[in-house]
Amino acid sequence: MSSPTTTSLYDRLGRHEGIERITRTLIANHMANPLVNARFAASDMQRVERRAVEFFCAGAGGMETYTGKDMLATHKGMNISEQEFVNVVDDAMAALETHRIDPATRNEVLAILWSLKGEVVRV
Ligand code: HEM
Repeated sequence: MSSPTTTSLYDRLGRHEGIERITRTLIANHMANPLVNARFAASDMQRVERRAVEFFCAGAGGMETYTGKDMLATHKGMNISEQEFVNVVDDAMAALETHRIDPATRNEVLAILWSLKGEVVRV
C-alpha cells in the first residue's frame, strides 16, 4: 500500500514523464516572466530543459544521472538577485500546481529549492 509519506518524491511528481511535463511548464513560465526571461535569451533552451529534467529526476530520487555542472558552477558570475530567485521558485510552484501536485509535495519541493539559494544567489 502506498501513501504520500511512503511514496518517493520521484513517484509523487509522476516519475520521468511527470517531471518532464512539469519542467516544460516551468521553463514556459520563465519565458513568460519579464523578471527572469532575459536571463535565458542566449541559452540553448533544449539543453537547459534536458539538464533540468535530469537534475530534478536525480534530486527527487530517480535513477537518472545529472550531466550538467553543479548549481554553484552553473550560476557563478551571473549575479542573480534574491528577487530573481523568488521568481524562479514561484514559477516552479506554479508549474507544480498546473500539474495538480498535492500541497505537501509542493512544500517538499519548495524546501529543496530554497536549500539551494546559497549556490545560486549572488555567487
Ligand atoms: C533553486 C533554483 C535553481 C535551480 C535548481 C536551477 C537549476 C538550473 C539547472 C539544472 C540548469 C542547467 C545547467 C546546465 O545546463 O548545465 C540551470 C541553468 C541556468 N539557470 Fe538556473 N537554477 C535555479 C535558479 C536560477 C535563477 C534564480 C536564475 C536567474 C534568473 C537562473 C538562471 C539560469 C540560467 C541563465 C541558466 C542557463 C545557463 C546556460 O545557458 O548555460 N537559475 N539552472
